[in-house]
Amino acid sequence: MSADFNIVTFGNESEKDRRSQFVELMRRCPIPDTELLMNLGLFLTPQTLSRILFMDFLYKQIIEVQGIVVEFGCRWGQNVSLFTELRGIYEPFNRLRKIVGFDTFAGFPNVSEKDGSLMVKGGYSVAPDYEKYLEEILRFQEQESPLSHIKKYEVVKGDATVTLDNYLERHPETIIALAYFDLDIYEPTYKCLSKIKNYLTRGSVIGFDELNDQACPGETTALKEVFGLNRYAIKRFPYNSRTSYIIIDD
Ligand SMILES: C[S@@+](CC[C@H](N)C(=O)[O-])C[C@H]1O[C@@H](n2cnc3c(N)ncnc32)[C@H](O)[C@@H]1O
Repeated sequence: MSADFNIVTFGNESEKDRRSQFVELMRRCPIPDTELLMNLGLFLTPQTLSRILFMDFLYKQIIEVQGIVVEFGCRWGQNVSLFTELRGIYEPFNRLRKIVGFDTFAGFPNVSEKDGSLMVKGGYSVAPDYEKYLEEILRFQEQESPLSHIKKYEVVKGDATVTLDNYLERHPETIIALAYFDLDIYEPTYKCLSKIKNYLTRGSVIGFDELNDQACPGETTALKEVFGLNRYAIKRFPYNSRTSYIIIDD
């Protein structure tokens, strides 16, 4: 399948070519269905594996912190799925560790002049009705761990600057242990960061996908305006070039 969802990539032509050959190899995979899920590591690259390792690292930071895990800008949902798997590994009986993914599932609703020239309205869209597919994936994931009769995930479709308020109104019990920001652009990052401030506790972790990245300057601008850049140490994960995190320690 090939479709253009308007994403920004930095690979040169030979990398793109190699990756498409790799995808083709994956589609020709002769492994039987009964063994396919056990062998997905065959198709990871150092880059994709390092992102998985980062999600594992983030999750480990919040095991003793009360609260839920949210991702702003979950798109195809790999991270929310990973967080569900990690909950199954590290705290299978923590029924309060809900995983919540926010996305328009239609790409960027708008971009501003603070986002540079690479971000475009509608960028990073997904296939139609994708949120329903993601719900199904998360339902399966949840069944792989104990307490599967308690639904512990939520996929929230729509502009997060609006749906976050609705979510927090519906769930006044919310404490956020981990928030992962991958909205890429200024306005929703600024608004969602501002809105979650009062829901964080000491030890809460905020992960960021694009700080210090000139392709998406809006994320850094938003953090600068909401928390400042020197209030918390902005740490990077050594095995991945782009990702970083702060720990709320005051
Ligand atoms: C780079 S993609 C996220 C990638 C995903 N986290 C991953 O790891 O594969 C950025 C996402 O942010 C979403 N997004 C941007 N602005 C948004 C907003 N105001 N409300 C909800 N989602 C938004 C886009 O729809 C897009 O799916």
